[in-house]
Amino acid sequence: MTEHRDFDAWTSARLQQVEQALQGWVGEAAPAGLREAMRYAVLDGGKRLRPLLVLAASEAVQGQPEAALRAACAIELIHAYSLVHDDMPCMDNDVLRRGKPTVHVQFGEAAALLAGDALQTQAFELLTPPDTALVPAAMQADLCRILARASGGQGMAGGQAIDLASVGLQLSQDELQHMHALKTGALLQASVMLGVATGQGSADAVAQLQQYAAAIGLAFQVVDDILDVTADSQTLGKTAGKDAANDKPTYVSLMGLEASRQYAQQLQQQAQAALQASGLANTDKLHAIADWVIDRAY
Ligand code: IPE
Ligand code: IPE
Ligand code: MG
Ligand code: MG
Ligand code: MG
Repeated sequence: MTEHRDFDAWTSARLQQVEQALQGWVGEAAPAGLREAMRYAVLDGGKRLRPLLVLAASEAVQGQPEAALRAACAIELIHAYSLVHDDMPCMDNDVLRRGKPTVHVQFGEAAALLAGDALQTQAFELLTPPDTALVPAAMQADLCRILARASGGQGMAGGQAIDLASVGLQLSQDELQHMHALKTGALLQASVMLGVATGQGSADAVAQLQQYAAAIGLAFQVVDDILDVTADSQTLGKTAGKDAANDKPTYVSLMGLEASRQYAQQLQQQAQAALQASGLANTDKLHAIADWVIDRAY
């Protein structure tokens, strides 16, 4: 109980910081129409799991707060862009996101495409402030490399390509795991690694944090697949039941609800074991996030 009270207080303080930073940054230099679409996509909604992971990982390795806040916002911009494009008619064709009409429904397809593009590049701008007193040059390069790899062909975009190519197909468990690890796991894993890159940990500790991140990254999409079947659209803030309607291979379609739930629990235990093995002192927030990822209702 105490731990959760601490976590709640920590979360609301950090969320406030992230919201304030995003309010100031998102779309700041874009023409008014584009700025509006970018801000609509990012502000006022979303669980902010990835920013919280960055900040929790950074605290576990005594990272630099300014770099961590920038990385937290940067990965949320990449995530928001991925959602804008994921919802477009050429991909999942969704009309509801974060409890609001999707960006292309609200602003049109061209605006949605461009808002996604501009959010993606603004993420890298946040990581590279000209003033290297804010984020040292070597750290800027590390952060950019981590985020670029996780977002591109070997990460989120690659996973989305596999997802689209898999419509109507029966994937093996290995193939499904590979798709999930890329389309969702990569950005969650990057969230932890961005946090780690703002500070210092032993090679062993970093390897364990990577294991932790891989487990919750996969678990997150397994739970997303479960919630698509078990939750309603109002709770989710997005259209429930879309995976079956779009004939997507998911953990639920492959192994059924009960086995999917058990698999998520198994991944939760793996994540907690990796944290314990890291030997790091300040991992209570990461522990609590792993529980939240698996036990969440939306
Ligand atoms: C939804 O991510 C898309 C997936 C990667 C499964 P989230 O569930 O984190 O969405 P928000 O940010 O809370 O809206
Ligand atoms: C989306 O997966 C993953 C990314 C946006 C990269 P889904 O298509 O399952 O996400 P939701 O269910 O629409 O949020
Ligand atoms: Mg999708
Ligand atoms: Mg989708
Ligand atoms: Mg989904």
